Amino acid sequence: MFHGKMKITYYGHACFLLEVSGVKLLFDPFIRGNEIAKSINIDQIEADYILVSHGHDDHTADLVYLAQKTGAMVIASWEITQWLAKQGILNTHPMNIGGKRKFEFGEVIMTYAAHSSSLSDGTYAGVAGGFIIKNEARSVYYSGDTSLFGDMRLIGEMHQIDLALLPLGGNFTMDVADAVLASKLIQCNKIIGLHYDTFGYIMIDHKEALQQFAEHGLQLNLLKSGEEFTV
Ligand code: NI
Ligand code: MN
Repeated sequence: MFHGKMKITYYGHACFLLEVSGVKLLFDPFIRGNEIAKSINIDQIEADYILVSHGHDDHTADLVYLAQKTGAMVIASWEITQWLAKQGILNTHPMNIGGKRKFEFGEVIMTYAAHSSSLSDGTYAGVAGGFIIKNEARSVYYSGDTSLFGDMRLIGEMHQIDLALLPLGGNFTMDVADAVLASKLIQCNKIIGLHYDTFGYIMIDHKEALQQFAEHGLQLNLLKSGEEFTV
């Protein structure tokens, strides 16, 4: 592994692993019941940290199971960490929108996302968010489930984003056209698409999506489940 680089493994939907300086960060754990991740063995997933963008099932279905199994520290909204405590998960770090925190692997900034957030039992999960993960060499932005919003421009002005993971599926989040605009606002030309093709509402045409990004000089990556990407 080259110094400072980050490696992503895409599992499916919005679930992926980010490896930073040998530390494994799992995002929005959703493997069981995830059509795209059906070839992934949940018990082979390792994590030192689990980051949760918001409470919805398609981002937290395997949160309690994997937090218990791996012992990973969960970084999430205050409300989600309170809910986790009631499930016996105490190794958590609460954050909220705009918060910055240094961890052993680098800095985490919790960003705004325009979306709703509640847990499967109806518990209020705080405000939905996204994350910027930064080390001395790279910055990666995961927007979480969100619409396009104008303050993405600030993210672009304040940070040098090397790679962004953005939803593409529409209906619940940005669609492809919105994600193209988002990439411009955050000034990032390397994108990994998330939150598409998992179920009926969010199917996309791959060829068309790749073309739309390419027309704007942007590199869109539509990864297969289990595929790795280094930045
Ligand atoms: Ni959601
Ligand atoms: Mn979602």
